[in-house]
Amino acid sequence: MKNLKSDFPVFENNPGLVYLDNAASTQKPKFVIDWVSEFVSKDYANIHRWLYSLSERSEELYIQSKEKIAKFINCKHSEIFYSYNSTYWINIISQSLANSWFLKKWDNILLGIWEHHSDILPWMILSEKFGFGIRFIEISDDYSIDWNDFDKKYDESIKLVACSHVSNVTWWIYDLKKLKSKLNPETFFLVDWSQSVPNIKVDVQDIGCDCLVFTWHKLMAYTGIWAIYLKNEWIKKLMPMFGGGGTVQDVSQDWYNFFSTIDKFESGTPNIIWAVSMLRAIEYIDNIWWINYIRQNEIELIDYALQKFESLSDKINLIWPIKSNDRVGVFSFNVIGKKNQNMIWEIFAEKNICVRCGWHCAYPLHKFLDKSGTCRMSLYIYNDKQDIDQFFDVLESIIY
Ligand SMILES: Cc1ncc(COP(=O)(O)O)c(C=O)c1O
Repeated sequence: MKNLKSDFPVFENNPGLVYLDNAASTQKPKFVIDWVSEFVSKDYANIHRWLYSLSERSEELYIQSKEKIAKFINCKHSEIFYSYNSTYWINIISQSLANSWFLKKWDNILLGIWEHHSDILPWMILSEKFGFGIRFIEISDDYSIDWNDFDKKYDESIKLVACSHVSNVTWWIYDLKKLKSKLNPETFFLVDWSQSVPNIKVDVQDIGCDCLVFTWHKLMAYTGIWAIYLKNEWIKKLMPMFGGGGTVQDVSQDWYNFFSTIDKFESGTPNIIWAVSMLRAIEYIDNIWWINYIRQNEIELIDYALQKFESLSDKINLIWPIKSNDRVGVFSFNVIGKKNQNMIWEIFAEKNICVRCGWHCAYPLHKFLDKSGTCRMSLYIYNDKQDIDQFFDVLESIIY
């Protein structure tokens, strides 16, 4: 395994840091930090409607970032646009669908019980106003999709299915191709790729979704920018939620006409600087041989961590099927007999080990599993076996 820690300044600036909170956000490589700083120092200006070279250079990089992402997920760059974060975009798309009369009273939608709140609350808030119903797809004892439950709940009243490819608690990689094969072509299929994008190659044609949202701060770019894929036919059909600069073909005192392109969803000045951070994050990934290295490295670390978790399986409740390989490198658990699970969090923090405890913005899933929160440790490309050993030294000291 290649040691990538030296590519990430945070480790030099925080000696002894064991960073295992990657599911929440990843650290940034020097490559990205330097390029963003270079861009701001040399090439930055506002984009669109330019006549000068500084703006032209910024626009080129902005478009390049979309082209890179389009290649990364196998779509056209004219189907990619940016938003602030996933929460923000799912609020927008849900309102766009309702305002475009796609979701109406008596309709139903189907969400994964494993969804993050960002893919639950926007729909709940909207359902109060528009009167559509919400059903949840449950999971089986092994945490995979309960297909019997799905078959019972999916009927002609379901207009939309929205779910994450990977849960941020169970770490199961859900079979979205099978899910898609069960949907009729009119059902809008929204996929949250936030927890898989750091590790697993995405191909929107292969999944056949209408919309894909994925975060970049979990993939080494800066916070405050999300990429969204929206299928061309929906770009044309949907009413945007926000109007503003850059969204319209024409406006008069009593009339306006939105663009029929992706521009109608990017109102106002876009986050140009963070878009460059995404471009450079993908280039960094290209430099370390992307999927071959990342996934192979991750599987090696998963196997190593799973062996250690297995040796403690009578002392901790693991929120995943222990033998499964259909997972990413994130582990949620409870220590048996410890009433105050927050205490675990504090002990890890005292030892300079960053993990996260709580409900992970997934109350419905925790309630379904009858859990009042979990402790979560998550790996990424710069982690190594030594980090895992340090984590287990502390966990064992808590248990024994
Ligand atoms: C599966 C999943 N979806 C959505 C989100 C929300 O992302 P954001 O906070 O960037 O809106 C997260 C955050 O961890 C997540 O794990």
